Amino acid sequence: MLEFDLNNIDLTKEPDIQEPQRQWYYIAKCREVIKARSEAYGRPLTYCITTFGCQMNSRDSEKIAGILKQIGYVEIESEDADFVIYNTCTVRENANNRVYGRLGYVGKLKQKHPGMLIALCGCMMQEASAVEKIKSSYRFVDIIFGTHNIFKLAELLQIRLDSKRMVIDLWQNTDMIVENLPNDRKYQFKAGVNIMFGCNNFCSYCIVPYVRGRERSRNPEDILDEIEGLAKDGAVEIMLLGQNVNSYGKNLEAPMTFAKLLQEIEKIEGIERIRFMTSHPKDLSDELIDVMKHSKKICKHLHLPIQSGSSRLLKIMNRKYTKESYLELVDKIRAAVPDISLTTDIIVGFPGETEEDFCDTLDVIRKVGYDSAFTFLYSKRTGTPAAAMEGQVEESVANQRFDRLLKEVQKISAKSAGKDEHTVQKVLVEDISEQDSELLTGRLSNNILVHFKGSKSLIGTIVDVYLDESKGFYYMGSLVK
Ligand code: 5AD
Ligand code: SF4
Repeated sequence: MLEFDLNNIDLTKEPDIQEPQRQWYYIAKCREVIKARSEAYGRPLTYCITTFGCQMNSRDSEKIAGILKQIGYVEIESEDADFVIYNTCTVRENANNRVYGRLGYVGKLKQKHPGMLIALCGCMMQEASAVEKIKSSYRFVDIIFGTHNIFKLAELLQIRLDSKRMVIDLWQNTDMIVENLPNDRKYQFKAGVNIMFGCNNFCSYCIVPYVRGRERSRNPEDILDEIEGLAKDGAVEIMLLGQNVNSYGKNLEAPMTFAKLLQEIEKIEGIERIRFMTSHPKDLSDELIDVMKHSKKICKHLHLPIQSGSSRLLKIMNRKYTKESYLELVDKIRAAVPDISLTTDIIVGFPGETEEDFCDTLDVIRKVGYDSAFTFLYSKRTGTPAAAMEGQVEESVANQRFDRLLKEVQKISAKSAGKDEHTVQKVLVEDISEQDSELLTGRLSNNILVHFKGSKSLIGTIVDVYLDESKGFYYMGSLVK
């Protein structure tokens, strides 16, 4: 990994046009301003990032934090900070509403906090209507950027510090992937690693392809370099991230399958657990199932969104599989990896969903026996094909189906997720339990949480735990000495 010495960047010269050199120049430049301000205030300058949405966004927030720390900002939890950043999500309407709610709050804070800067980034900013609303109703926002140009944050901050105007920099699409920028990891022992960006699937309800752009895979060398670096730095578990990891590598100059990439990652010393998300059922290959079957490190967990159990609706959703082919795929995976835990995403109330379609969904979840399922009420996203479809489901009907689905999911997952009761399992210890400071919390290979008594020094290590009791979606256990 390339390192840049911030003290050796000549700020009297013009910035490089090459990336990432250009951004390191701006980091060094902002650092001077922040240092001067901090001396004037007699305290460090602070930042606070609030992340909405998925693991992609969490990973992006780590990149933002990495840049801000290099500039000299110190992280705090409170939004009463010198630099407040909202990394937004727009996959469902309520995610947008939450951002407007936070903006209302922070706008008032800013009136009492001289020099406070507010930035908005992430998927919601890729939508013209949201940006228009912010420009007209939330004039106090200082910087708006999107999902393609996070790497440019220092440059945008510099422009804002020079100009005092709202800075808006939004890219519609790009092939560019900038490597070797700063990075601030939340945990020492586990890390998310992007392997690809964007999505080409255009499921008819989903806004993601419009806001995250076309599919781009990172070069395998860059991914492997990053993971080797993480392993040296103490990471034992990595989560490979992409909107559709199963189509990794298709657009590389030298195409490579996701299964091959996993085999290369498996060889990296120090990495004990490999996770990935999200898998699209249509692209899950036999090669991948075989690699999972023989792997010592790939976790026994597959998140395999079904969205609906109705073949009729799946076609309209543009998912490119049927109820039957999905169930066959599940059988094939279970035959190869019998103890795998399966989780899923389900949408209720998609336009035109009938009682019969919904019963197909209930049928699939009973047949698969998921360990857990994320259930969503369909949310109309302007610009997607589904938003213009006829037969939008009445809210009361959708709500009622949602409740029925949730009850069924809870019943099924409590049974599936409890099947390891009274066995000893490997647990990666993650933290002190949020509910009880006497307990540690860790995860099984299949991603289920376990709480047990033990010393804080075990955090970040993999230990044997006897699973005393299943509590539905987590276990209580005892450390095996
Ligand atoms: N409405 C409801 N849920 C949605 N998802 C994506 N788009 C929508 C939408 N318009 C869900 C899908 C996806 C998950 C990340 O979000 O289930 O898998
Ligand atoms: Fe959206 Fe479908 Fe792409 Fe997932 S695969 S991000 S649901 S378009």
